[in-house]
Amino acid sequence: MKPNDGVKPADEIDESPLKLVSKQFLCCTPIRLIRWHGLLEHELNWDEQAALLDATVDHPLVQRYPLSAEYQGAFLKYIIAQLSSMNAEHHDRLMEKYCAMLSPGTELPLDDPSIGLSYKHYELPHGQGVISLKESGAFVSEGTTGLCSWQAAKALCEHISNNRDDFHGRNILELGSGVGLSGIYLAKCYEPSIIVMSDCHSSVLSALKENVRLNFPNAAPVECDNPLVSLLLDSGNTLMGVMDLDWQYISASNLSQLIEPDVIVAADIVYDHTLFPALLSTLNYIFCLSHNRCKFVLACTERNQDTLNEFLQLLITAKFRINEETVSPSRHFHWDSSASNIRIFTISRAFS
Ligand SMILES: C[S@@+](CC[C@H](N)C(=O)[O-])C[C@H]1O[C@@H](n2cnc3c(N)ncnc32)[C@H](O)[C@@H]1O
Repeated sequence: MKPNDGVKPADEIDESPLKLVSKQFLCCTPIRLIRWHGLLEHELNWDEQAALLDATVDHPLVQRYPLSAEYQGAFLKYIIAQLSSMNAEHHDRLMEKYCAMLSPGTELPLDDPSIGLSYKHYELPHGQGVISLKESGAFVSEGTTGLCSWQAAKALCEHISNNRDDFHGRNILELGSGVGLSGIYLAKCYEPSIIVMSDCHSSVLSALKENVRLNFPNAAPVECDNPLVSLLLDSGNTLMGVMDLDWQYISASNLSQLIEPDVIVAADIVYDHTLFPALLSTLNYIFCLSHNRCKFVLACTERNQDTLNEFLQLLITAKFRINEETVSPSRHFHWDSSASNIRIFTISRAFS
């Protein structure tokens, strides 16, 4: 049985179906996975349709930072089909929006044509606000997997929200940050002294920087001598850096000038065994920096058991201790737990 089978998420008890559908729409939950909470089980009247549009395609965030046109079109098409199956009258705005979608470039804002990125908006638990990210709808684009948020990043966020004390006020380094969901969540809600988000791919680093700036519009730029740090911002409570940290070149990275982490976090970076030696020496290097006082929280999607086991075995051989955590149910961050086997590990080493 998967961890959240049959569990009614706590937030769903208080929130209206419209709010719950809106949340799922804003972060582009695949249409087939949207939980409608009874919303489309009966014929929606004119006002109810208008309210649904206001909470989704006409939501102020979407007006300003549009979701992919393709996703919005699929969402509207689904609603139109459901209403048609009930012989319900369609709201004018519903049809106008959908028709505009069929003639691209007119009513609806287009996705960023340069690299095919558009926005997703993640509503945070406990009224902590929203994270807006520019990301790709495709798992692989520009030759990298880093331009979209993966299931493991959402599971890591859920884990962080349930283990607040492990992260609050810490010095945090994220490896393979991608577009920044978990790093920005930590920066926004857990007041780390410093958080450095890192990656190695130039398009990923550009999107990551843009996303950090977007979510911290008032943070002040800080000068930094480290040539690998291309953005350093001060939000008042937290220093946030974006760093070009390629595991293959870690020893030359001047990491020690910037951060001595208490906590390392990473989501979905264990998938290619040719990267394991570089990843392992990166961990060795960082653990040495902190005299083995740091710990590493790693969220993985287990696609191939042998690949993950190979990495865990390398860690054990290098004298790391591995503790497997219970994966928190998908409550605030939506992922398809029936389709992905997420595993979360806390990795530490005896102090030297
Ligand atoms: C599957 S994505 C995960 C992104 C993000 N953590 C998430 O879960 O949404 C893997 C990330 O690892 C990064 N990566 C791969 N090889 C790397 C290396 N040698 N050094 C640093 N980052 C690397 C990729 O650029 C990509 O952003």
